[in-house]
Amino acid sequence: MLRSQNLYRVLGNAENFTTILRGVDVTIGRREYVSIVGASGSGKSTLLYLLGGLDRPTQNDPETQKPFDPPSRVFIGGEDTTGLGETQLASLRNEKCGFVFQFHYLLKEFTAAENVALPMLKLGKLSRRDAIDKAVGLLKQFGLADKATRRANRLSGGEQQRVAIARALANDPAVLLADEPTGNLDRKNGDRVAEIFDELGSKGQAIVMVTHDTALAKRAGRMITMEDGRIISDVGREGAGTPRNE
Ligand SMILES: Nc1ncnc2c1ncn2[C@@H]1O[C@H](COP(=O)(O)OP(=O)(O)OP(=O)(O)O)[C@@H](O)[C@H]1O
Ligand SMILES: [Mg+2]
Repeated sequence: MLRSQNLYRVLGNAENFTTILRGVDVTIGRREYVSIVGASGSGKSTLLYLLGGLDRPTQNDPETQKPFDPPSRVFIGGEDTTGLGETQLASLRNEKCGFVFQFHYLLKEFTAAENVALPMLKLGKLSRRDAIDKAVGLLKQFGLADKATRRANRLSGGEQQRVAIARALANDPAVLLADEPTGNLDRKNGDRVAEIFDELGSKGQAIVMVTHDTALAKRAGRMITMEDGRIISDVGREGAGTPRNE
């Protein structure tokens, strides 16, 4: 579903640069629930954003000014993103990927249902009525049936994060990408979000979740550990014999 090849992300210029990702090769299967852990600054968010097409790989080695060998690439749904323009990349991303962040970025003057319906309206495949109906269905699934018409800024933090998950799922993404989805929540709300991820994962929704919380990370079928811009361990990989990924 998502794949990186010799993935590099370098910031700065030839004289002064920082290498954030150093040749990451990873493949996320279409039904895998994967967590990414590692120390702060190890490159987890950078990897997640690159895999989801929110950022682009660095093509050239800053020392030699030549392309990395093999080339630094990201494939989304089998498609090489390298040559895509911004609009093409955005539409591939909107079609295949749903994002959940630590801070939810809901539109606070809009209702819960409107927030969830927005990505559907943006894609333009559903009427407003159908989008709202589908949004209400998703909210119901996450225990928010009675909050659908409430404005986002009048929901609790935990409720807002569940609305954000519903919004990320609005366009039936092939993969859900989450960066510290419980990072801003108390224990109870964090557990609730973790349960939602477990349930989605057990239904075969592909998920890539970055987290500091190792207990949460262990609930995924596969756990990737990063250190200093590299993957140093990858446990439970698809095809490696875990029942979930058969
Ligand atoms: N725009 C940027 N400018 C400069 N440095 C950056 C930028 N983005 C990331 N970095 C650096 O790249 C490294 C990796 O960042 P990244 O956000 O991917 O780490 P992380 O593993 O997600 O960390 P955390 O657990 O703290 O969220 C860090 O050292 C960070 O300071
Ligand atoms: Mg991060």
